[in-house]
Amino acid sequence: MLSSIMSSPRLSSVIASLVVLSISIAALPPRAEAARAFFVFGDSLVDSGNNNYLVTTARADSPPNGIDYPTHRPTGRFSNGLNLPDIISEQIGSEPTLPYLSPELNGEKLLVGANFASAGIGILNDTGVQFVTIIRMFQQFANFQVYQARLSALIGADQARQRVNEALVLMTLGGNDFVNNYFLTPLSPRRREFNLQAFSDYLISEYRNILRRLYDLGARRVLVTGTGPLGCVPAELASQGSLNGECVAEPQQAAAIFNPALVRMVQGLNQELGSDVFIAANAFQMNMDFISDPQRYGFITSKVACCGQGAYNGVGICNPLSNLCPDRNVYAFWDPFHPTERATRLIAQMILSGPADYMSPMNLSTIMALDSKI
Ligand SMILES: *[C@@H]1O[C@H](CO)[C@@H](O)[C@H](O)[C@H]1NC(C)=O
Ligand SMILES: *[C@@H]1O[C@H](CO)[C@@H](O)[C@H](O)[C@H]1NC(C)=O
Repeated sequence: MLSSIMSSPRLSSVIASLVVLSISIAALPPRAEAARAFFVFGDSLVDSGNNNYLVTTARADSPPNGIDYPTHRPTGRFSNGLNLPDIISEQIGSEPTLPYLSPELNGEKLLVGANFASAGIGILNDTGVQFVTIIRMFQQFANFQVYQARLSALIGADQARQRVNEALVLMTLGGNDFVNNYFLTPLSPRRREFNLQAFSDYLISEYRNILRRLYDLGARRVLVTGTGPLGCVPAELASQGSLNGECVAEPQQAAAIFNPALVRMVQGLNQELGSDVFIAANAFQMNMDFISDPQRYGFITSKVACCGQGAYNGVGICNPLSNLCPDRNVYAFWDPFHPTERATRLIAQMILSGPADYMSPMNLSTIMALDSKI
């Protein structure tokens, strides 16, 4: 029976093509390639562990950071659990991107993308000097170029370029230029050099150069988050002696100047490029929603950090000796600067499906629908 089947010329060609088919199925790209690549740049709000590999004080690799992470261990994320890049990876159906400095970022893991972010950095090179070695934007981009060379070695130059062009990119930058530079001391060099409006203008023009450079490096879909409500974080409430938890005026004013200017800059850049490459995410409003009405979102407070010490648990950093709240789901802030996973999920939900005043010119669901048609 078998031999008669094999002897039929028609059937053997069917079998041959089945063999070819199964070979081509076996040669299909690994699951990682089912989703688009994801690249992350910026500061501690999106650092997933690069600073663990550096000599720096800007790090989150000791407990209780990561207490609600799947491993229940610290990873370098400034969160009790997942951070914003992790949740966006979930939304686009991808596994989490590894930190660029992780030794595990090799072989097929390169296809998933990479996270280049480094806690403590800002738009300006002089932001975060107190943290010793951190990976500033120009170095994050240099690392992105090395990454692209490694990806090219794996899948070829054309495929690598295409994978970068089709990727989703997240850029989170700017908060540290205020809280860890301009507002760091009452007589900071930048404060003596610029008033708030002029400093914001300077930041926006440097940020524009950074985004333009990112475009030149191949990025074509970039979520750009503005700064959160800088005057409302527990660290500012503590350091500026807020009495009843009212947000500190000057950093709030800074965010109010910077964020609308960022939206206008992004619009101008898109016009110049003739394409909606950059999408501004209104992180200020996304945070203000639950900060101004925490109970509505199931939080008992948006003033006191879950992990920290001193007033509002807003002094110093989250460390093994800090106060720790029992239920992270009812706190908006994990540590003096960073939201809990639960608050971050609210932000990610607005990025995914928020209206035009939150996501300009469109939200991530719209981006995914558009890009899947290409
Ligand atoms: C930051 O430093 C790098 C390397 O020295 C330099 O190329 C870049 O222009 C600097 N950026 C700004 C905004 O000064
Ligand atoms: C955002 O996403 C939702 C889908 O989740 C869509 O219905 C809505 O129209 C989008 N809003 C804008 C302004 O694009």
